[in-house]
Amino acid sequence: MKQTEVCVIGSGPGGYVAAIKAAQLGKKVLVIDRDKVGGVCLNCGCIPSKALITAAGFYDKMQNGAAEMGITAGKTSVDMTKLQTWKQGVVNKLTGGVGQLLKANGCEYMTGEAKFKSPKELEVKTADGKTEVIQATSFIIATGSRPIEIPGFAFDQKNVLSSTEALSLDDLPKRLAVIGGGYIGLEIGSFYQKFGVEVTIIEATKGILTGVVDSDCSQVVARKLKKKGVNIIVNAKAISFKKSGSDLSVTISVDGKEQTVATDKILVTVGRKPNSDQLGLSAIGLKIDAKGFIQVDKQLRTNISHIFAIGDIAGQPMLAHKASREGIIAAEVIAGKNVVMDVKTIPAVIFTDPEIASAGMTVEEAQSKGFEVKVGQFPYAANGRALSMLESEGFVKIVTDKKNNVVLGVHIVGGEASQVISEAALAIEMGATAEDIASTIHPHPTLPEMMMEAAEAALGHPIHIFVKPDRERPLRPTSPPR
Ligand code: NAI
Repeated sequence: MKQTEVCVIGSGPGGYVAAIKAAQLGKKVLVIDRDKVGGVCLNCGCIPSKALITAAGFYDKMQNGAAEMGITAGKTSVDMTKLQTWKQGVVNKLTGGVGQLLKANGCEYMTGEAKFKSPKELEVKTADGKTEVIQATSFIIATGSRPIEIPGFAFDQKNVLSSTEALSLDDLPKRLAVIGGGYIGLEIGSFYQKFGVEVTIIEATKGILTGVVDSDCSQVVARKLKKKGVNIIVNAKAISFKKSGSDLSVTISVDGKEQTVATDKILVTVGRKPNSDQLGLSAIGLKIDAKGFIQVDKQLRTNISHIFAIGDIAGQPMLAHKASREGIIAAEVIAGKNVVMDVKTIPAVIFTDPEIASAGMTVEEAQSKGFEVKVGQFPYAANGRALSMLESEGFVKIVTDKKNNVVLGVHIVGGEASQVISEAALAIEMGATAEDIASTIHPHPTLPEMMMEAAEAALGHPIHIFVKPDRERPLRPTSPPR
């Protein structure tokens, strides 16, 4: 029997951040994970996918961009085994670093499969077959989510892959069929296409990323994917697949008519589901909603007041940075602070080519909430840094409240959009107006200058694009007091 003050189950960006914060606040902390420290994000999600996306981006630029700059790259090739070794090195550095941080902060780490025995006790089966009982004053459940399987496409690690296997292939398939044109399917599909794989995306709705991001942003990505030769089939449901030798044939139903897609591997990325069925939660009376998410309040507390839940298992959006923030709040609440999860926006990035990054409301969302909006948009093609980076596609779009110019949302599609969006998140959190962004000097030449120009465009007076003067809006208007 082990006793601790805070027991964190799961060591991803939710769990390890919660553990470090709780330890910093003076608590005795035990972290339990069935696997290596770092969770899906560090081991088989965000980090390895970004490493492969970066490599594929280099490869693509060497093949398709360098010539325009007068650089002859010679014959480009990729050694997948070496690439996987490098990717794993990046992962190992980060997971090793997190392990050291946990240790340095005095957190104990235990590897094993955890299950609640009672609301105050956890049973942990360790790899050597032993069972340990843990008693804790508070628990934080941070065990995340896993890929959803669909009928007829059970993951077999060979023909039908989840994102985990798709990030670890030592050989490039000739063809890849991706079922699901969402975050993961598009990120992974895009980098395989760049390495020369023939990619087909099979998407059930009328378009990629439908309802997930600003539709003008997703259209830019869809156009580029098509230009690069990716076959996007929409309104399509995958029904089954057949194997003949090493060839696979996927039967899909498009607008009710059946057709087949020939491929070598099938990647299924139709969403993720919370791991709330694996911890014995129902038996202790913990409330779980119809979608499998543990119900929590603004302090991340479940209906059992000393048990907290954070990250993917506690609701959408399933994003690492949301999990980390929730981890900090849960740890602070446990340490006696009177805090709640109270954010105006959780920014999101999709690492496609070009990237999509957003914070706050889309035009449609703002209008459905009763706002009259004014939109300012600035194209990458008019930004010096973007052109010098061979990134002329895309735009920055700012949605403001017409009444007082307060920034309601920012939607960016374009190179390195991920590096620009944090300013938008800060603006929204601070209740900034378009004037606040437009009057802030942005260093030249940089991509974030487009935030300033888009804000000026929302006010009707951008410098580097021409928009018809807006007589209703005086030059440098003063926003009403907030
Ligand atoms: P997703 O929810 O983003 O997309 C799933 C897509 O599959 C949807 O477009 C849906 O219409 C389609 N679909 C569902 N069933 C289908 C079927 N039977 N046939 C064809 N299409 C079907 O899910 P995804 O891509 O698996 O990602 C899961 C979550 O992981 C995301 O919601 C996101 O929160 C997180 N994530 C975040 C990343 C980031 O921050 N850059 C990267 C990767 C994942």
